[in-house]
Amino acid sequence: MTTTSELETAWDSVVCEARKARSSRIIDLFGDTDRVEQFSISALGMLFDYSKTHIDVAARDSLLNLARAARVESIRDAMFSGARINCSEDRAVLHTALRNLSGAPVMVDDVDVMPRILETLERMKDFASDVRAGCFTGQGGMITDVVNIGIGGSDLGPAMATRALSPFHDGPCCHFVSNVDSADLADVLGGLDPATTLVIIASKTFTTIETMTNAASILKWMSVHVADPAAQCVALSSATDRVAEFGIPPERVFGFEDWVGGRYSVWGPIGLSLMIAIGPEEFTEFLAGGEAMDVHFRAAPLAENLPVLLALVGLWHHQGMGFPTRAVLPYEHRLNRLPAYLQQLEMESNGKRVGQDGQPLPHGSGPIVWGEPGTNGQHAFFQLLHQGTEIVPCEFMIGAKGHEPDLAHHHRLLVANCLAQSEALMKGRSLSEACEIAASMGYSGDMLMAQAEHRVFEGNRPSTTLAYPCLTPRVLGQIVALYEHRVFVEGVILGLNSFDQWGVELGKELAKRLEPLLAGEAPSDDVNQSTLRLATFLRAPE
Ligand code: F6P
Repeated sequence: MTTTSELETAWDSVVCEARKARSSRIIDLFGDTDRVEQFSISALGMLFDYSKTHIDVAARDSLLNLARAARVESIRDAMFSGARINCSEDRAVLHTALRNLSGAPVMVDDVDVMPRILETLERMKDFASDVRAGCFTGQGGMITDVVNIGIGGSDLGPAMATRALSPFHDGPCCHFVSNVDSADLADVLGGLDPATTLVIIASKTFTTIETMTNAASILKWMSVHVADPAAQCVALSSATDRVAEFGIPPERVFGFEDWVGGRYSVWGPIGLSLMIAIGPEEFTEFLAGGEAMDVHFRAAPLAENLPVLLALVGLWHHQGMGFPTRAVLPYEHRLNRLPAYLQQLEMESNGKRVGQDGQPLPHGSGPIVWGEPGTNGQHAFFQLLHQGTEIVPCEFMIGAKGHEPDLAHHHRLLVANCLAQSEALMKGRSLSEACEIAASMGYSGDMLMAQAEHRVFEGNRPSTTLAYPCLTPRVLGQIVALYEHRVFVEGVILGLNSFDQWGVELGKELAKRLEPLLAGEAPSDDVNQSTLRLATFLRAPE
């Protein structure tokens, strides 16, 4: 049992190490010849290198001590054992059970939840196989297209993973509609045949206004062309009663429990579109990757534990060094939805103002997460990463191999660029080097100095790199589970509940109250004047 004062002492020591580190240069830390070995971890065929940060031995010791003081290991074990660690919703947190292919019992309130999970997984596999083989058809024949209607966790997980694994697609084409903006639905439906389209309505609660609006509209679109639109419709939800009211028969409903958070739900029924795209076998590989990361997370000592180290580096940069954001930079074009996926995972989980006890967080919440695949980002926002006055820790990701052997030279260039960026961020370019460049361009005197200053890179900008062999379903499963557990560890150390999301409620409520105003009803007294003016304009632009 750790006391509050032990935890605060551990925090103080991290903050103190970070204060010292601010005056150090990362490149100088490489004086230790074995720094790379000491500040990298290999596990599950992946390499996580955090040597290009300001973290030294003392800093890492302080971070590991912080993890111990926050009781990361015992709270981790509590999560896996089905304890109700989501206190504000009084729920267990068991998305890990969805990828527990071992089938080992997982108890919630003295009931083993595994038989039901495995039964649903088998039903998903049967259904996906039937769709892929043409045994389940649309009213115009074999299913050619699948449209997943969902938002947030009911969209980002399967959309990100389906895009990431496109080399493994051998099923119908999967599309994703999330936004209530009719443009999203219209653009997807534009090229589809309603008689050969399968609609998947994905919503844990089956109340989300965007999803229910899109679901009603897509069924209307189908009803013009097919006799029984509901027959080409599947529901993925925890709210089986609401699904029944909607008119989807139980054999096409795939349920899951409330202890699977929306942003952690891709491993179960919410992943059905992915399973249809890549097939049950590859989907099982994806689960196996997640399961392997769970085993690693539960067994590896803190100092060799990938999720723990990722989390500690994250806390070091945000809480310790005071950098407000972090950039996720996959050098893997098919991971182009990963930054959006991680934004929900990290910011909906750890973007909180109070701790589990309802008191203001003493060390603040998680950082702003953003990003874009390389090399595209290099030609857009990397200017700021290298020379802007804000320091942004960069998290690079890169595979050893691509999926296009005929275009291996592209991949070499991709890797070279990824490595070059982390090297450039760290090393920078000094004024004297910049002067040489300016002189070689023919500048002299004051002009030389002015030109040189523009070409100076301060360097000393931290980054980490996660390297993996190749983006297969298994590796993707490992990466997604790695980030889930990283978020968990950060949340535990910050003392917050990573598994609720009360912060999304207020905007939803106000939207409900404002919609009638846009339809012409009289405004209620509490509508702000600015909002009223905008609403008036939007009803009838001047
Ligand atoms: O509004 C936020 C949120 O509740 C997310 O947490 C969730 O992933 C998303 O909406 C969609 O919810 P549902 O799956 O219930 O439609």
